[in-house]
Amino acid sequence: MSGRIILGTQWGDEGKGKICDLVAADVDMVVRFQGGNNAGHTVIVGDTVLKLHHIPSGIMHPHVKCIIGDGMLVNPRIILEEMDLLESQGISTDNILISSNAHLIMPYHLILDREGEMRLGGAKIGTTRKGIGPAYADKAKRIGIRVQDLQDPKIFKKKVISALEEKNETLTKIYNVDPMKATAIVDEYEEYTKRIESYIADTSLIISQTLNEGKNVLFEGAQGTLLDIDHGTYPFVTSSSSTAGGACTGSGIGPHMIDEITGVVKAYLTRVGSGPFPSEEEGEIGETMREIGQEYGTTTGRPRRCGWLDTVLLKYAVRINGLDGLALTKLDVLKDFDKIKICVKYEHNGQMYEEFPPHQSIFHKVKPIYEELPGWKSDISKARRFEDLPGECQRYIKRIEEIGNVPFKFISVGADRKQTIIR
Ligand code: IMP
Repeated sequence: MSGRIILGTQWGDEGKGKICDLVAADVDMVVRFQGGNNAGHTVIVGDTVLKLHHIPSGIMHPHVKCIIGDGMLVNPRIILEEMDLLESQGISTDNILISSNAHLIMPYHLILDREGEMRLGGAKIGTTRKGIGPAYADKAKRIGIRVQDLQDPKIFKKKVISALEEKNETLTKIYNVDPMKATAIVDEYEEYTKRIESYIADTSLIISQTLNEGKNVLFEGAQGTLLDIDHGTYPFVTSSSSTAGGACTGSGIGPHMIDEITGVVKAYLTRVGSGPFPSEEEGEIGETMREIGQEYGTTTGRPRRCGWLDTVLLKYAVRINGLDGLALTKLDVLKDFDKIKICVKYEHNGQMYEEFPPHQSIFHKVKPIYEELPGWKSDISKARRFEDLPGECQRYIKRIEEIGNVPFKFISVGADRKQTIIR
């Protein structure tokens, strides 16, 4: 039995998709356990670039079962579009299973997300506007509608009518927008059900059985540690548990079934949406990272904020997730810099912080303290062994390992699968 979690150590967009895709070649199952179509990863099939949002990275490997786990949100319209896209490229969707316990994103969640953000004005979170917060809020309030409800049309209709009684009050009286009609939603979702029904399963049972048969299961995190609802930079977070504990609750398995936890670290930092970012570079340095690293959102197309790697946050991610290995991505993007900075601690009101500050007011105001290392100023995209990397580059990697106290198992030097050093 082998369960392995791969998750992001930053604010998402660490390049988890590439590492998951690499590892997926050797596993029997890939499980997404939280989030919904706020996530996005790019899959390249020949000359075609596919953007996927719900479906795990393993889909490109025909032998891999791909699970949409209990803790996920499903927007049926979008997942069906993803399936159509895959089928149109000759990629089978027969291996996809959707948890009956996953919650549905309903049309009113999208409007509530948009209107809620508009109402917050300058204090907005900068959500992906996919309805994530409102759908998880309904789950917590125990008024959510689950995938299994699609299988019982009477119950489904009842739940939509009951939800709209409250939602329409909010839509009309607070946000001043049109109310929604239950019949329209029920009819729309009935059509989706016809196509989705055959994918619905008791995924927690199937995952456990697969692990008990001695097979390998990969748990693929979405977003990242700093966007976790409990441990991230709240309130500028997503609404699910994107850290290692979430892999168990969001899949319906016990923690003892996990053997390895790998954290993906981009060689620099990015963030989309609002919120504090101590090592952010708003000028030329950030612009260079954005252009070379093509740092634009897969889901929303928004330019990502860029800055230097922050090892205070990395140490935090190591601790919160219990990481035993790291994967470094996009190292090749730093090729043009004379000097590479690493944020190693923060200063605030004369006090130094080597650990993530316990109060958000401190974190919002800290000044980053950097260590500077020489850049390698060369193309490393052809390196296939650690020894092929320039000395300066090796030094940067070793310094991060030393501070994080966890080894890099993968070092990615380009987008292609082959452009990876596996240690
Ligand atoms: P939500 O998940 O759409 O509610 O957005 C909440 C915050 O998480 C916003 O700052 C988003 O930009 C961020 N976020 C959500 N999903 C992702 C992701 O996949 N990558 C990076 N940021 C994300």
